[in-house]
Amino acid sequence: MSKDTTLVFECLLHNHTQKEKHRELEMFIREGLRGRQIKIGTPVLITHPDIIRLRFSSLLGLDEDRTFGGFFHVNAPYAVKIHFYTNKKSRCDVFQQDEEQLFETTELPAEKLDCLWESLHFEKNTHNTLLSVITTMFRFSLAKVNSKIIGINRMVLLHGPPGTGKTSLSRALFNKVAIQNAHLSFSYLEINCQALFSKWFSESGKKIARLFAEIQSLSDDKRKVVFVLVDEIESLTLARSTALGGNEPSDSIRAVNTLLTQLDRLTEKNNVIVIGTTNLLHAIDDAFLSRVDISVEIEPPSHRAAYNILVSCIKELASCGLLALREKLAYFDSILAMNGFEYSPEHAKHSQSEQLYNIAKLASLVPLTGRTLRKAPFIAYTGIISRNDTPGCDALLEQLHRDMEQRKTEAQRVTK
Ligand SMILES: Nc1ncnc2c1ncn2[C@@H]1O[C@H](COP(=O)(O)OP(=O)(O)OP(=O)(O)O)[C@@H](O)[C@H]1O
Ligand SMILES: [Mg+2]
Repeated sequence: MSKDTTLVFECLLHNHTQKEKHRELEMFIREGLRGRQIKIGTPVLITHPDIIRLRFSSLLGLDEDRTFGGFFHVNAPYAVKIHFYTNKKSRCDVFQQDEEQLFETTELPAEKLDCLWESLHFEKNTHNTLLSVITTMFRFSLAKVNSKIIGINRMVLLHGPPGTGKTSLSRALFNKVAIQNAHLSFSYLEINCQALFSKWFSESGKKIARLFAEIQSLSDDKRKVVFVLVDEIESLTLARSTALGGNEPSDSIRAVNTLLTQLDRLTEKNNVIVIGTTNLLHAIDDAFLSRVDISVEIEPPSHRAAYNILVSCIKELASCGLLALREKLAYFDSILAMNGFEYSPEHAKHSQSEQLYNIAKLASLVPLTGRTLRKAPFIAYTGIISRNDTPGCDALLEQLHRDMEQRKTEAQRVTK
């Protein structure tokens, strides 16, 4: 194993009732990781691959010769899946002369996207629906399905208000599919349309040509699946209309048209899957919209998702020693499980979970986006920091509650 490779593994229990095995495995991995906190089912980054490799080889009989990035030991009551993350440098040489990159190509699964999937909280079917969509596209492309017969362009559009997690979800989705199919090769390329048509306004045409040359060359390798994220796609339409109103419209209109033509050409490539994101569905170029196979709306978090986001923030503050927790805060599904799948405020009366549940309800009424929710604990913390060096969770929750009430009142004032 080369030095620029790290290992990530995911543990899946075949039989969820086997708690004993679950614990045994967890203990075993903990030991192997020298006490690192891990959660079964979540990919974990291992910094000492040789230790774990040795231990797993003896436990599960890992075939040393297998070079692909994952294995399943199907006969065991549990399975351990190991992923190899290649920490290759992104190929940013294409735009080396620019101070900032227009795009970068990353091999997937990528370490920098580790656990992004788990950090995003939506209603359950958002994650699953999108994963099924991308997996289906990917399977069809592996099977070389003729897209003239089965009408797919392998293009998905995510739309919704700013800060609802569209960009993060797209990245996480691609990484997840790559993790689940770790024996195959995936490349990921991200195009930021906003940067393309503002920062590189005058040279957009040249850059687009180089960008698509890169995608073409990646996708020429038929063993590879190429994921492309076209972020903030509404910028194309805005650029076109700005150009029409300006003095020298021809260059940028040509650039927008080139980008659309090139995207169109990608639909001929069986092994390229594109996700586009936008805040403004109505501002999307019709040419792009008509090629999209599935368009999914990403909404601000529901109260469940808001609750989970806030729990993750509070856990982070506690694990950094910045917040004293009185009780263990559980994620929403665990609370439901504890209550026979029905939330009962009686059950958790006066508990912090209940307080947080009420805060999350307020947040979903405003509604607050994931981006704002992730900032909310920081803002609340600024209101309590002067009183105590290590504030308690109660103080933070009270402050959060006040902040949410205030936001709700402001939102109501605006809508009146
Ligand atoms: N549902 C969510 N669960 C957890 N975190 C979220 C969620 N939605 C947004 N976030 C967090 O908010 C931040 C912004 O998300 P992101 O940039 O993906 O949103 P976006 O929809 O692409 O925004 P924009 O439209 O402005 O580009 C990220 O740090 C992300 O983790
Ligand atoms: Mg975005």
